[in-house]
Amino acid sequence: GDVAVLVPAAGRGERLGPGLPKALRELAGSPLLVHAVRRLAQADCVGHVVVAVPAGAVDSVSALLTPVLAGSGVGLDLVVGGAERQQSVALALAAVPGGYPIILVHDAARAFAPPELVDRVAAAVRAGSDAVIPVLPVVDTIKQVDPDGAVTGTVDRSVLRAVQTPQGFRRTVLAAAHAADTDGGATDDAGLVERLGGRVTTVPGAESAFKITRPFDLQVAALLVDP
Ligand code: CTP
Ligand code: MG
Repeated sequence: GDVAVLVPAAGRGERLGPGLPKALRELAGSPLLVHAVRRLAQADCVGHVVVAVPAGAVDSVSALLTPVLAGSGVGLDLVVGGAERQQSVALALAAVPGGYPIILVHDAARAFAPPELVDRVAAAVRAGSDAVIPVLPVVDTIKQVDPDGAVTGTVDRSVLRAVQTPQGFRRTVLAAAHAADTDGGATDDAGLVERLGGRVTTVPGAESAFKITRPFDLQVAALLVDP
């Protein structure tokens, strides 16, 4: 495939509670990062993966992922991540070899995103979008509140979407967005493209691409693990 995927996996997973860094927490005997990369490698479009790992974890993660990718034809690079997610993505982007005009960015924490979603995002970039995000409708009613928690308004949720990863980009667009914005504050990469005035389009997301954030999410994920 002509697509490289950046996998930020260097976070601590504080909201998951005490334990290993989130990407290395195990479900059914495999770390979340292994579940994530296994699905990426099953997508036809993917030719290379760059993972940003916690400091000190390069050798152990290399040992975990090399067998996952063996025989798949998918290349692997590992970098040590940064203090914020945006820095981890930028460091991974800098390590992508030449020859990958389309770059996807995919959180290790969305470990059960299906391969079809990966191919859908890449196809939308290939079809001409500069930046593509998978989205789902918002199912909850959304309220605005004041600092005391009193309701000040109800938002029209029909114009809202919840955003997932993988997000897809023309490589030049993602590189320019990161180069222009180094403050580390953005919560997603498409947001950096928006700040530059770029056009971001959407494709349907997948419920199984939910982000494993809190302990309850890990219980849900346990239901999705391959038998
Ligand atoms: N991430 C990263 N580098 C950081 C922070 C986060 O690579 N400095 C990665 C995480 O490993 C995760 C993804 O970005 O795969 C999404 O972040 P999040 O779900 O917030 O994970 P954590 O930051 O690990 O969790 P928490 O915020 O609860 O500590
Ligand atoms: Mg975080």
